[in-house]
Amino acid sequence: MFTEVTQREYLGAKGRENIWQAKEDANLLLSGALLGGEIIRVRLLRGNEVTQVLHALQDNSASLLRYQLADGGPGTLPYHSWIVARGDEEWTGSLSQVQALSTIEPYLQGFAFSDSSLRLKRPLASEERVYGLGERTGSMNKRGQAFPIWNIDPHKGHNPKTENMYTSIPFYLGLSNAEGTAYGVLIDHTGRTEMDIGKTDRTSVQMTIEGDNLVVYFLVGPKPRDVMRQYTELTGHMPLPPRWAIGHHQSRWSYASQQQVEQVASQMRARHHPCDGIWLDIDYMDGYRNFTWNREAFPEPETMTRDLHQQGLHLVTIVDPGTKIDEHYFVYQQGMEQDYFCRFVNGAISVGNVWPGACVFPDYSRSEVREWWGDLYKIMLDQGVDAFWNDMNEPALTDMMVLENPTPADTPGLDDQTKLSPPIKSNTMADDVLHLGDGDRPTGPDGGPTLHKFFHNAYGMEMARSTYEGLLRLHPGQRPFVLTRSGTAGVQRYAAIWTGDNTSHWSHIPMAITMCLNIAMSGVSFVGIDIGGFWDSSNGELLVRYAQVGALLPFCRNHNAIGNVDQEPWAFGEPFESAYRTAIETRYHLMPYLYTLFEQAARSGAPIIRPLYFHYARDEQACEVEDAFLVGERLLSAPVYEQGATSRRVYLPAGTWIDFWNGNEYPGEGWSDIEAPLGNWPLLIRGNSILPTGPAMQYVDQYPTDPLTFTCYMTTDGEASYTLYEDDGSTLAYQSGTFAETTISCSVTPDVTTVEIDEHFNAYRPQRETYVVIVKVGSKTLMKSVKAGQGKIVIRL
Ligand code: GLC
Repeated sequence: MFTEVTQREYLGAKGRENIWQAKEDANLLLSGALLGGEIIRVRLLRGNEVTQVLHALQDNSASLLRYQLADGGPGTLPYHSWIVARGDEEWTGSLSQVQALSTIEPYLQGFAFSDSSLRLKRPLASEERVYGLGERTGSMNKRGQAFPIWNIDPHKGHNPKTENMYTSIPFYLGLSNAEGTAYGVLIDHTGRTEMDIGKTDRTSVQMTIEGDNLVVYFLVGPKPRDVMRQYTELTGHMPLPPRWAIGHHQSRWSYASQQQVEQVASQMRARHHPCDGIWLDIDYMDGYRNFTWNREAFPEPETMTRDLHQQGLHLVTIVDPGTKIDEHYFVYQQGMEQDYFCRFVNGAISVGNVWPGACVFPDYSRSEVREWWGDLYKIMLDQGVDAFWNDMNEPALTDMMVLENPTPADTPGLDDQTKLSPPIKSNTMADDVLHLGDGDRPTGPDGGPTLHKFFHNAYGMEMARSTYEGLLRLHPGQRPFVLTRSGTAGVQRYAAIWTGDNTSHWSHIPMAITMCLNIAMSGVSFVGIDIGGFWDSSNGELLVRYAQVGALLPFCRNHNAIGNVDQEPWAFGEPFESAYRTAIETRYHLMPYLYTLFEQAARSGAPIIRPLYFHYARDEQACEVEDAFLVGERLLSAPVYEQGATSRRVYLPAGTWIDFWNGNEYPGEGWSDIEAPLGNWPLLIRGNSILPTGPAMQYVDQYPTDPLTFTCYMTTDGEASYTLYEDDGSTLAYQSGTFAETTISCSVTPDVTTVEIDEHFNAYRPQRETYVVIVKVGSKTLMKSVKAGQGKIVIRL
């Protein structure tokens, strides 16, 4: 039974916090703060903290407790959070206390409590749509659905009804199509949050958590772009990955030997399939022990990585959290000696089965554990491995392929203190495992001890963080690249994510689009899928259509489960191999455009791939589109997802749209049938935009981007401008201004076409001799090459 807090008494302010007492229960407080004028935080709290707050309010000399940010950054918060990346002190605002109060007031409505839980109910207008919420199947608009925010490894072959997946994010964006406005709501909670988005009651969203501290952030928008900016200012920005990470990758569960890796690499090059990375799945290890090699299959990892590097390829290896219980295994030994593995409240070490059989799990809530684990990557980095893939970190437990299953409680040599629990039978860690955090220093960056049920969704993110921070320490000044399967709000600070184990089935192509778009609209810009499908065997046509979606997703990797037929780009012969190559070559041509979008995402939080509503929120039909996406503002990709189809219907929003492949023009604000023979798919550029492209390459840094081509897709009497971002693609120097920006503008009148290029090379000078400028107006194409590096160039055509 929930009681709503309908009556409040204002008790006063302490710093930024305004405190109200609930009339329904004197032991319940609402605390509201305004952060920077666009974000409102409201907390419903009870229990121990209430006494402390009341005391601070009465005693002028006492202050509210402040908790160090989890990232150890300069700021603090009035509670502990794994999610928020910006301290209260970092926000500035010019509103008076009276104005702040009236801004906060409307957000105090809808809070309710029961004995064990707290709830917030927010109204939904009749035509409102709801997006975000991380990685989920089902329709992109989540209105009418209910599900828990709780990371799990779902059963094989997820489908639209699957309730939850590997990465859930307690954030939604509400979109009002009538007004074209949007707002955001973030629940700062890493335990289970029950979301009911207009399912039980069509007119409201209900969010329920267990416990005594419900923290909610309201982001005022008013445009989707503003919501994403506010959300990423709060939860952190994606750092720029190394440029090669944006290339095409080839993975398999598992390339089983050094020889096989060499073969895949040489096929890629011999057959001219652009590729930047080869990925090794669990079988490179010695009995699935992290940070080891199966030396029979991979006798010389250093030689292998050196050879790959010489071909412009990088090597990425998988690392799971499950640590094999094996007294002779150094990671297990070190972790046991230092007491780094998760324990139950009763002291027993939590054991679960993963690939190696019985495993223990590092407690990533502790800084010293994250540091230890992060430093272990040195072994692999020294062998030339370039980046890491963190998997099974929900954490997922599985009995699949378990090699051996000792009864760990009987393992000899362990005293009562270190006793291992019997292996857990559930699919994840038990609720009553205790994550220690900062232990007796609860206001420190890791907070006080937390039960797994409250830490759960942060487990994967903190593992990715441990990897990311380790790589930063081990290779200072270089950009780390980490892929994680599990995460929650804020995971974009450390890693890219992919949508896990999809299926080689046509229905998984549209699902890839809705999933990736909602993930992108949950702050995680760097997202992708298993191209070709993971479970079951793919076929030539399906692989090609998968590659055409993946070619313009931010993360682009072909991956396939064990036991299926191969699905490397050449696996099904012609015409599929050529069609696959075309899709990926298109990505490489568009790399300057994609990379600029990555930088924008890193700076402003604007996602790289965007749902149509992002730019056309007032267009009702555009809001309904769930099977196409924008790449930045100017490119619209409408992948084909029906077997045998050679065209598809595409909704085009306002403007004129130009076919990337053949220059055909289509009118906006309507549906068009667009040709899609196997070799391409509907890809359209909005009229009056400029697209930068580079030369064909086998890997992103094979050559300088020279010539750089700017194609201006114009309408008569049109104007367009575009700013390209470039930097060294690998170091952190961009953070201190070492980058180049090149602005090009184009104007077309009946008499003259003028193009201006303006170079701003701030400490970074792109290696380039030539710009090729192409202006397309209707059926006319004008073209000119000019010398680069002149500062300002004016061309009349
Ligand atoms: C999980 C991952 C998958 C990987 C497999 C073996 O299912 O999601 O990508 O291939 O484990 O490591």
